[in-house]
Amino acid sequence: MFNIEIFDIKLDTDFIGRHFVYIDEVDSTNLFLLNKANKFNTNGTVILAEKQSKGRGRNEKVWYSAKDQNLTFSILINSKKYLSNNLNLINFCSSLSVALAIENLYQLKTSLKWPNDVLVSQKKVAGILLESISQGSKIEKLVIGIGININQTSFQGNFSIQPTSVRLELNGRPAERERVLAEILNIFEEHLIKLENNSAGILQDWKEKCRMIGEKITVTDGENTKYGIFEDVDDEGFLLLKSKGKIEKIHFGEVSLR
Ligand code: BTN
Repeated sequence: MFNIEIFDIKLDTDFIGRHFVYIDEVDSTNLFLLNKANKFNTNGTVILAEKQSKGRGRNEKVWYSAKDQNLTFSILINSKKYLSNNLNLINFCSSLSVALAIENLYQLKTSLKWPNDVLVSQKKVAGILLESISQGSKIEKLVIGIGININQTSFQGNFSIQPTSVRLELNGRPAERERVLAEILNIFEEHLIKLENNSAGILQDWKEKCRMIGEKITVTDGENTKYGIFEDVDDEGFLLLKSKGKIEKIHFGEVSLR
């Protein structure tokens, strides 16, 4: 059982997570916040579910997570002030916050995989899915969905990248979900504010944790596969792939080392 009091004591934010919704079971925390009928309109609202019956992953995949063991939550951003930022960079703020929280609390070395996976020992510990609702060309609502494997110790299925959990990486020692969530939200709010006047700093911090830059990679997007060198990430957060002397900007895709 998630202890909301412990979480609340550790939360040190102004607006992220100050409106907190805790649910036993839901289809998807992302869908819940995107659904207008649920009328959640407070900027920074966080919904945490113990179980999702239709957890959504990137590229139409399903996000499976054992009940009561992990963190599956979404953050609502609907203030114009933050929505005017580049979404890729908000994405980077999210993955960076998850990585830093795990490092601060458990001294595990994390790395980031473009666009937004968090890895420990080259295995995936967390994934992030941004979804939004737009009116014309303007984004009205942004939902940042984060799934982190905290205390789950076995994973079934076929994975393009091997999953792990914080507990597995701590050799079986359980991790405290309340502290992890509060630490992520504390760091996320700081980063979101920093994004307004120092987006270059966020990008730099993200790149320092992405240990794939300079490596030979494969980028897969559906049936389409591209090979090359991971040259860099540009100022807008797109991957720059170098192949045959040319640089191509990559907007989507699964990246793996060759
Ligand atoms: C990925 O494929 O790596 C992204 C996974 C994102 C999963 C999280 S769990 C909480 C939120 N609600 C969802 O339905 N998906 C995201």
